Amino acid sequence: MSSNESEIYDCLVIGSGPGGYVAAIRAAQLGMTTAIVEKNERFGGTCLNIGCIPSKALLDSSELYARLRGSGGAGGHDIGAHGIKVGKLDLDLKTMMARKQQVVEKLTSGVGQLFKGNGVETFNGVGRLVDRGKVEVSVPGGEKQTLKAKNIILATGSVPAGLPIFPIGRDGFLTSTEALSLQGVPARLVVIGAGAIGLELGSVWARLGAEVTVIELLDQILPGMDSEISRRLRSILGKQGLQIFTGIRVLGYEKAGKPKSGKAGKSRAGADTAGKDGAAGVILSTEGKDGRQQQFAADVVLVAVGRRPYSEGLGLAELGVKIDKRGGRVVVDDRFQTSLAGVYAIGDLIPGPMLAHKAEEEGIAVAEILAGKPGEVNNYGTIPSVVYTWPEVASVGKSEEALKQEGVEYSKGTFPFRANGRAVAMASEDGLVKILADKRTDRLLGVHIVGPWASDLIAEAVTVMEFGGSAEDIARTVHAHPTLPEALREAALDADGRAIHILSRKKS
Ligand code: NAI
Repeated sequence: MSSNESEIYDCLVIGSGPGGYVAAIRAAQLGMTTAIVEKNERFGGTCLNIGCIPSKALLDSSELYARLRGSGGAGGHDIGAHGIKVGKLDLDLKTMMARKQQVVEKLTSGVGQLFKGNGVETFNGVGRLVDRGKVEVSVPGGEKQTLKAKNIILATGSVPAGLPIFPIGRDGFLTSTEALSLQGVPARLVVIGAGAIGLELGSVWARLGAEVTVIELLDQILPGMDSEISRRLRSILGKQGLQIFTGIRVLGYEKAGKPKSGKAGKSRAGADTAGKDGAAGVILSTEGKDGRQQQFAADVVLVAVGRRPYSEGLGLAELGVKIDKRGGRVVVDDRFQTSLAGVYAIGDLIPGPMLAHKAEEEGIAVAEILAGKPGEVNNYGTIPSVVYTWPEVASVGKSEEALKQEGVEYSKGTFPFRANGRAVAMASEDGLVKILADKRTDRLLGVHIVGPWASDLIAEAVTVMEFGGSAEDIARTVHAHPTLPEALREAALDADGRAIHILSRKKS
């Protein structure tokens, strides 16, 4: 980290998550003198340190374990189905966690290298807006320094929202941050919230042997997701052993004495259970919509009920930067400028889905705007969302429910992976592709996938939607055989009643 008090930077970014680091790199590429302030030891923000990246590392490791264990934890694609027998299987959680940390370190140090290579100056400390064009950086150890800049980009992201009734850090209540670093497999994990975090981390620990119960307030898992896809995922996760309850509210909890398995206990998979992280155990009391009361015992409770923008200590209120009262998000105009001239905000701080790729896109756009270019996020309607369970869920555009609600007439095509050659060869037949297109123009309006590598498959749909393409465009595009993307093409053909590998009929 360096220091240059006399310099007036063209661009100063606070926060080095996917929004901030991408903005800084793009600003430097465009010839602006650029600096970035980061309070943590490592760059990369939530995504690289305690979010997207470590969770994917654990999802990949735990999926391998579940496949090898062959207990249904990996769905139908257990290794046994391939005729491979595995002897005694051991879980070395310490090594799994160490690998996860190596992945984090590799990628976060990569961001540092990119800063160096692009000439972005870096400052380690907590940044606070003190005036227009001025940021005070409190350096660890108590020193303060003031940096000056023509433009300031706020990219401080978000933190777990929590629920007031649950004391995070006590009695076994955790956020995703701690759930990514448990030292042992909890015997009974209750997850509150069936969103992306709840289902991904619920999957990790269920695969590693925990008894996992997911409690969701609303009527479906992944609320907002196309409900046919959500229902299918629920049924698949149920077969993998996740017990999912929807439409119930947690009222409170009481301590339950000793942990179920204690320090030397064994989980479902025979792995050592959480002694250190698991508290004495709690009993959660809940109430369903019909008034039915139910209790759930847990050694560890993951609270995954959403995230909120993180702007504490940033000096926004003092300087009168407008914040939306309802959502707590910073208000920006179509150039990402806040109510204070020269101060911009991007990513989780501002409205829109709290997704790394949305923040990155905004980072590029704002840097280009500052450089006098016509920077913008082309189309918020084509931002894909992915949930990395197995099988994965990926979606872009409108759900069927949304189209109905908006009164849009649509045609629909679906194709199951059990009829896709590659999926069958992989023994990963669970799931389907669903395509929704405008009835009159055939323009693609939404694509929803639950199935193997849905995270990769969705890219084709995003591209076609970005170009304003139609279902017919996908149907007429040659897809290599045998590949998973053929399922997308077949769903597009099915929208017109002419899929080849299932019985497909012209819809009225
Ligand atoms: P979320 O908003 O995705 O899901 C929270 C869930 O908790 C919702 O289903 C909600 O209905 C439920 N809920 C709220 N209050 C509740 C209560 N009192 N009792 C039971 N359920 C309750 O939030 P999540 O999963 O915490 O993720 C936070 C953010 O991070 C989201 O914006 C998400 O999109 C993002 N994220 C994205 C990932 C991805 O793209 N794969 C992975 C992880 C997080």
